[in-house]
This record gives sequence, structure tokens and C-alpha cells, in this order.
Amino acid sequence: MSTENQTEYIAALTNLHRGLDRKGPGDSGFSRDILSNLSTLPLNPRIADLGCGSGASALLLAQHYQSTVMAVDTSSVFIDELKARANQLGLEHLIIPIQGDMAKLGWSVGSVDLLWSEGAAYNLGFEQALKIWRPLLANSGIAVISELSWFTDDVPEPAIAFWQNAYPTMGNEAENIDRAHRSGFSILSTRRLPSQSWWVNYYKPLRDQMQQIEITPSIQSVIRETEEEMRLFEKFSDFYGYTFYVLQAAYINLI
Ligand SMILES: C[S@@+](CC[C@H](N)C(=O)[O-])C[C@H]1O[C@@H](n2cnc3c(N)ncnc32)[C@H](O)[C@@H]1O
Repeated sequence: MSTENQTEYIAALTNLHRGLDRKGPGDSGFSRDILSNLSTLPLNPRIADLGCGSGASALLLAQHYQSTVMAVDTSSVFIDELKARANQLGLEHLIIPIQGDMAKLGWSVGSVDLLWSEGAAYNLGFEQALKIWRPLLANSGIAVISELSWFTDDVPEPAIAFWQNAYPTMGNEAENIDRAHRSGFSILSTRRLPSQSWWVNYYKPLRDQMQQIEITPSIQSVIRETEEEMRLFEKFSDFYGYTFYVLQAAYINLI
């Protein structure tokens, strides 16, 4: 895709997600359950939500820990939505909105205790994201990262064809666990986001938006692609979905 087309595509994708609480599949109850099973973090943990969108998880994390969350996203539209939501919830003192590239944060080594990222690591590639983010974490720090993953090796051809085109390096859970080990993490647990959460919290609001939005050629093309993605998920959600990888930074010498 040319840079011009890429810019147009991202603008159309952003418009389609404007105003939605979630910009990808997720579930607050599911996230809270993961949090309730995490080992204790230091007092006032340093938290980051990378690829935060309009803050579905950043706001939840701020509320849960009553601690500051650095929330990073490239989209100024989504960062503005995050600021508005934080104000509405009276959480603006706990949210540090950062419009920027999560691959080039320039933060100090070991400066994060809990790194959270939902539906965003694929933009860098899962392994690449883990390798870039590992040095940011304190030794024994926790990373909770959701990643589109194959649930079986026996995947029907239409699903393989679609995702090989959309996300060529998508791996199965065993491969992603290997990638995490190679990147300096141990695995605390893996949890699959239920398919119902995709429909209720993401696809349904997105479908409603698709029916109301003003159609331009680039929006039309993103809508066609999204409808195909939904049809595929309707048929094949037993074979793939978002797995949440709950990781702990293995000890390395950070000096
Ligand atoms: C599928 S959305 C998920 C957003 C949010 N985590 C949620 O669950 O609602 C992926 C997000 O990653 C952001 N993103 C993509 N590449 C990025 C990058 N290099 N740095 C920061 N954010 C990025 C997009 O703007 C988008 O908001």
C-alpha cells in the first residue's frame, strides 16, 4: 500500500471507530478478572497502556489501582476522546495521555511495573512489540497483552486465507509463548477472550456505526473488509481469537 493510501485507510478506520468505547475486542469484566488474579504490584505502580485507543483499559486500570496510567496512542482523535472520558469519570488526574508511537517511547529502562496492551501489539508484530517493550519493564514487572492467535493447528482454509493477508505473522498460542520466552518474559497465564465479548462490546457497536456513518469510497472499502472479518468470525471463532498473555519480565541486568 502506498503511503498516501495508507494514510487514507487509517483515516477511514479512525472515522469508523470514532466515539466507540472500544476500538477492538475486549471486555471490562474479563480484564478485571485478570487483574484480580495478578500478584501484588508495588504501591503506586507505574502503569502504561500502549495503543490505548480512547482508553477502555487505561481508565479501568486507573480506577482499579488509583494510580497514574501513561496512555499512548498515535491517533490524536482517540487521545482527545480519552481526555474527554477521563474528565467525565473524574479520572483526569490519573491519566497521562500521550499521542505518540508505542515503538519509540524513549522511556527509561525499568520504568514500568504494569504494561497493558489490548489489540495493538499486532501493529508492530507480537514478537517485535515484546522485544521493544521488555526493557521498559522493571524486573518482575507484569505485561498483559492481547494478541490475535490461532487456537488450533487445524484451521479452515477461508480463515487462514483472510488472516494470512491481513496479519501474515499471526501465530498459534504455543508460538506466541515461544516468542514471549525469546523476548525475556516468563508466562504466568494465558486467557482466551470469549467470542461473545467480541460481538457485544465491539462488533455490535461497530455495525451500528457502519449503518449511520457517511459513506466515502475509503470508508466503503473499510466497511467491506470489516463485514468480511465479521462473517469469518461468525463461522470460525472456535479456531482463533484474542488470547491475553499474562507475562512477567524475567530477570535481566538492566544496567
Ligand atoms: C484495535 S485498536 C485497540 C485500542 C484499545 N486498546 C482498545 O482496546 O479499545 C489499536 C490501537 O492501536 C493504535 N496504534 C496503532 N499503531 C500504533 C503505534 N505505533 N503506536 C501507538 N498506537 C498505535 C491505534 O491508533 C488504535 O487505537
